Amino acid sequence: MPVYKTINFNTATQILVWKITESFEQLFNEVQLNEKSKLRLNGMKSVLHQRAFLSVRKLLQEIGYTDYDLFYDEFGKPHLNDGNHISITHSHEFSALIISNQKVGIDIEMQREKIKNIADKFIDYEFNYLNKEDTQDYLSKLTVIWGVKESIFKIRNEPGISFKKNIKVNSFQLANKQALAWLKMDMIKEPFSVFFEEIENFTLVYAFEK
Ligand SMILES: CC(C)(COP(=O)(O)OP(=O)(O)OC[C@H]1O[C@@H](n2cnc3c(N)ncnc32)[C@H](O)[C@@H]1OP(=O)(O)O)[C@@H](O)C(=O)NCCC(=O)NCCS
Repeated sequence: MPVYKTINFNTATQILVWKITESFEQLFNEVQLNEKSKLRLNGMKSVLHQRAFLSVRKLLQEIGYTDYDLFYDEFGKPHLNDGNHISITHSHEFSALIISNQKVGIDIEMQREKIKNIADKFIDYEFNYLNKEDTQDYLSKLTVIWGVKESIFKIRNEPGISFKKNIKVNSFQLANKQALAWLKMDMIKEPFSVFFEEIENFTLVYAFEK
């Protein structure tokens, strides 16, 4: 389908979401790919991953970029040639990107019960305010917190960041659709503004360095 959702966050920041309903062939015929991307695409094991990769190029084209404007550093973090910041995410039938003049990170996650089984791998501080008895609220908040930590990781792109020890999300209400998070490492204590919303049974999160 065409772009599923556009969020004009401010004059210099846009978020675009694609719902991947097209076949590989359809997407492939509609995008231009640079040589590195062609190699990457050919090396991908699943068609779902290939379609997600191609759908991100569709999103880029929607806002006037092409694959030729995008390059990756040695950690796999994407960058734009014009100096704007970009972050990319994909999960199952959704993909999304954020482009901004600020440093940004984005993540889309499917809401799944099994996140509860791994909560203690990425949550520590947040257990102070999470209420396991409120099962739906708990699942939704865990998914938001996971997305926040992925988004901040994507901004900082630093080896050694522990989701559990180094990234803390302040208490938040789902209805507010925003929160404050912190990266605390060595001498660093850095705040991030985070925003989230539900898209079908997925949670979209994006973060900015404050
Ligand atoms: C790299 C990582 C952030 C990707 O996240 P993911 O949820 O697996 O996948 P997403 O679809 O949301 O994001 C994938 C995109 O992230 C981007 N990305 C990859 N590595 C990146 C990095 N080091 N920095 C920023 N962005 C990165 C890429 O654009 C990639 O998509 P593309 O290659 O198709 O363009 C993630 O795998 C990771 O390493 N996380 C940190 C490790 C960790 O501590 N995990 C959990 C501990 S409990």
